[in-house]
Amino acid sequence: MRAVVIGGGPVGLVSGAVLANAGHDVTVVEIDARRREMIAAGTPPFHEPGLDELLADVVRRRKLDVTGNVADVAAAAEVILIAVGTPPTGHGADLTALKAASKALGQALAGTSGYRAVAVKSTVPPGTTAQVVEPILRESSGLSSEALGVGMNPEFLREGVAVEDMRDPDRVVLGVNDDRTREALAALYAPFGAPLVFTTPTGAEMAKYTSNALLSTLVSFANEIAALCEAVDGADADAVLRAVHADRRFRPPASRPDAPSSITSYLLAGLGYGGSCFPKDTEALTAWASQNGLKTPILDAVRQVNAERPERVLALLKSRIDLRNAEVAVLGLTFKPDTDDLRESRSLDLVRLLQNAGARVRACDPMAASMGATLLGSDVQVSTDADTALRGADAAVLATAWRSFLTLDPVHVKGLMRRPLILDARRGLDPALWSRHCEYLPIGVRA
Ligand SMILES: NC(=O)c1ccc[n+]([C@@H]2O[C@H](COP(=O)([O-])OP(=O)(O)OC[C@H]3O[C@@H](n4cnc5c(N)ncnc54)[C@H](O)[C@@H]3O)[C@@H](O)[C@H]2O)c1
Repeated sequence: MRAVVIGGGPVGLVSGAVLANAGHDVTVVEIDARRREMIAAGTPPFHEPGLDELLADVVRRRKLDVTGNVADVAAAAEVILIAVGTPPTGHGADLTALKAASKALGQALAGTSGYRAVAVKSTVPPGTTAQVVEPILRESSGLSSEALGVGMNPEFLREGVAVEDMRDPDRVVLGVNDDRTREALAALYAPFGAPLVFTTPTGAEMAKYTSNALLSTLVSFANEIAALCEAVDGADADAVLRAVHADRRFRPPASRPDAPSSITSYLLAGLGYGGSCFPKDTEALTAWASQNGLKTPILDAVRQVNAERPERVLALLKSRIDLRNAEVAVLGLTFKPDTDDLRESRSLDLVRLLQNAGARVRACDPMAASMGATLLGSDVQVSTDADTALRGADAAVLATAWRSFLTLDPVHVKGLMRRPLILDARRGLDPALWSRHCEYLPIGVRA
């Protein structure tokens, strides 16, 4: 099929590349000229494992190309996915880019003949496709439902394993109101053989928020349990939660025992959830609920536990060391490993809290050092390698569980640091090994 994907971010570009590899002819529409140039050259503008080879291949085979102008390609497309950003405003989701993309698309389709299906892939509050996107599309295109179907197709990929998730989706949710849109979208995803879940556009929007709200709940629940464990003798949150994981209802399917990260990876003590989705989506869902006079006590608590998490980790460090003028290494800046995404990273919050407490911070991140340095400013020294950050430090915090940090040698680390105090804020290090050589301070257990 001829498909257009509007937005060349993690969702749009990964979807576009995987759809192209599955046989469709895909054009990505991207307004950012630098991103466009990189995509045209077959180079992803962000880090995502497996995307380099895939994108280079589909661009070389001319299965995927890129343009800055939707008017160039909309008329020839059979299916159009809108995957622009819907960032947080502090009181909900910002729909500015979505509205602009819908208007430009509608104008590009005005006067065209034939039939096309458009689906919103961006994560949006319930009702947005029906009440915001569809009216804009109809008004700017002048097309009725005979010529233009409008649906909602939320994306569930996880950054870091996005290519794998898109290639082998656990579900494809299609929110549609009519059979033609249903058939067009089902045909787009037919090559993947994934279970198709049909619902209405609003049902699809709600399904996406529900999924992220539930995962956010697991993270905050685990962190609330960690706080309880910290207050009693003898209970280690890591052991407690791993005992819960052993419940067969939480195990990955027997067919994929080594699934990259099962549901249990959310049920672990840590710095809290971050990234471009959970904080934004829980904020948007609670804001939408309150605008509609609805109460969300569970989600309010989930968000509060998350907001307080870096503060709690800081308090733990303060219980061991006077942070004024201390040199503190922060290992990891991205919101999780295997991505260069720094959006809403709890690690950045921790750096700022450490600075406010008087510490001098030297951070490191294998993928996001230069962007991290830009965001954090010149007061924070940022390197790509752990050794530079650890050398001469009075304390170190494992903030993102990058593999290269989990495999550090405690003897080597001890030799580098002025005081080998290691706060494990991700429970990624082996306690027995690390406490033999360093002052090992894990979260989730009474210090
Ligand atoms: N990142 C994730 O892990 C993830 C997962 C599932 C769903 N989502 C949702 O998918 C949507 C996109 O996420 P993302 O992380 O890819 O967003 P992003 O903001 O990183 O990327 C969006 C891209 O769209 C481009 N863009 C904006 N307006 C445009 C327009 N009018 N025409 C063409 N291009 C335009 C931007 O320049 C940018 O490159 C969001 O709603 C997000 O919540 C994200």
